Amino acid sequence: MEFLAFGKPNAAEPLAERWALDTLPPFPAIALKALNLMAGTDTALPELCNLIRSDPAFSTAILRLANSPLVGFSKEITSVLQASILLGFRRLKSVVITVALKSYLADSYTPILKNCWRHSIACATIAEWSAKWNWFDKDFAFTAGVLHDIGRVALATVMPKSYARVIERGADQSQDLLQSERELCGIDHCQAGRSLVTVWNLPEAFIEITSCHHDLETHARGAASLVPPSCALADALGFTVVQYRSASSYAKILAQFPEPARSRFPADGKALAAEIANEINIIESA
Ligand SMILES: [Fe+2]
Ligand SMILES: [Fe+2]
Repeated sequence: MEFLAFGKPNAAEPLAERWALDTLPPFPAIALKALNLMAGTDTALPELCNLIRSDPAFSTAILRLANSPLVGFSKEITSVLQASILLGFRRLKSVVITVALKSYLADSYTPILKNCWRHSIACATIAEWSAKWNWFDKDFAFTAGVLHDIGRVALATVMPKSYARVIERGADQSQDLLQSERELCGIDHCQAGRSLVTVWNLPEAFIEITSCHHDLETHARGAASLVPPSCALADALGFTVVQYRSASSYAKILAQFPEPARSRFPADGKALAAEIANEINIIESA
């Protein structure tokens, strides 16, 4: 797989920016291209398909998933195009990002990172689902959900021991978690996320999503506004990295979603959690 190299860190940059440049391995070029494609407003299936076809690791993962008994197509799938059409754009996006992240993290795919990842996919699934009801851009909502905690993935990769201590310490709510991260890692996951998205040159909208999704006074609009409640709901449904001691109830979190999405959620979170868990298992089998 081809890799992009980061530029040399500049001493004048703030600590948060330098941190990512200094310590993180480069992100796979194809994954960056895919993220940029998915973050755009005119993403088309054939474009993503061509990108996947150009990389053996991605092609193999897509074909393996299409032929997996979990997906259950009746005939053998032999081409990426055929697999992409049958799997649908939604699963294709999830698989591309999951494969990219797994190859990026290689041997350091620890249980903490696995939980970070499951949380992000759960958040993305909820954000996409609610975007559909509010006529927001659902592709953008999905990608935003996947990326919102990328700073935490980075912290847990670069400083696994310090991050394990953050998790051990626990937190009453998200603001305490950020405080713990700053104390034990020197930077919180929102600052780290902002830094990565900037370095990776992703569209500017993702800067706000990665850096402000725990702000109590966030003024995000459109699909971006769905990320904070989707993140909280993913936690409440059990797709969590740190179990907050003062977690909000399911009903209280639903109240943060705009109508009509708010009224479309099931009254009981268990069915929704089971559906999301099933989707994550399918994506992870690639
Ligand atoms: Fe977060
Ligand atoms: Fe989150």
